Amino acid sequence: MSIEQWTLVDRYITDALVAPDAALDAALTASEAAGLPGINVSPNQGKLLHLLARVRGAKSILEVGTLGGYSTIWLARALKPGGKLVTLELDPKHAEVARENLRRAGLAETVDVRVGRALELLPALAQEERAPFDFVFIDADKQNVPGYFDWAVKLSASGSVIVVDNTVRKGAVADLSTTDVNVKGVQGLHDKLRSHPGIDATTIQTVGSKGYDGFTLAIVG
Ligand code: SAH
Ligand code: DHB
Ligand code: MG
Repeated sequence: MSIEQWTLVDRYITDALVAPDAALDAALTASEAAGLPGINVSPNQGKLLHLLARVRGAKSILEVGTLGGYSTIWLARALKPGGKLVTLELDPKHAEVARENLRRAGLAETVDVRVGRALELLPALAQEERAPFDFVFIDADKQNVPGYFDWAVKLSASGSVIVVDNTVRKGAVADLSTTDVNVKGVQGLHDKLRSHPGIDATTIQTVGSKGYDGFTLAIVG
C-alpha cells in the first residue's frame, strides 16, 4: 500500500462523485500560484465536510485555519439560505488569497475571514452577540488543538458538530512516548474527549492523496 495507490483511488472516487467545479479548481490553482502549501483537504474530504454540514442543517459555521479557503468554500456552500461562516487565519497572505478565492466563488458576503492568532480571535468572537455555531471545523496548527476544541465547545450549543482534521498523524497519535508537539496536541484532544461528559466522539483513520491521517467527529451534548 502506498500513497500512489491511495491517490489513484482518490482520483477514482473524485471522478465518480465530486462534480468538477470551476470555483474550487480556481481556488487550488490560485493557492498554488501564490505559493501556499498544499495542505488543503482533498476534494472527497471537502465533500465529506460539505455533506456533514448539510446533515446538520448548519446555519452558522466556524472554521479555524483557512489557508486559501478551499475547505471554506465546501463548507460555506452547505449553509442554509442566509447562513454565515466565520474563518480564522494567522497568515495575512493566506487570508488575502482566501478572500479572492471566496469572492470568485460568490461567497464574499457569506464568509467573514478574520486574521490573527485563533486563540486571540476566539475570545473576541465569544464576546459578540451571535447565535451559537452549529458546525465547527478545526484545521489550524495542531499543538493548539485542545485549546481550539475548548473554544469550539464554548461557542456551540447542544447538537453542534465539531470536526477536527489531522488527528491521526501517520499513526503517531498512538505513540505515547512522542515528543512532537503536534502529536501531543491531537493526543490532548483525545484525553479531553476521554473524560468529557456529554460529548460523543470518534476518530477515523484515513488514507488518500494527502497520505495517512484521520479526523475526529464530535457531537456536543
Ligand atoms: N482548512 C484549510 C487548510 C488549513 S491549513 C483547507 O483544508 O483548505 C492550516 C492553516 O492554519 C494555515 O493557513 C495556517 O497559516 C493557519 N494557522 C496556523 N497557526 C494558526 C493560528 N495560531 N491561528 C490561526 N490560523 C493558524
Ligand atoms: C498539515 C496541516 C493540515 O491541516 C493538513 O491537513 C496536513 C498537514 C501540516 O501542518 O503539515
Ligand atoms: Mg488539515
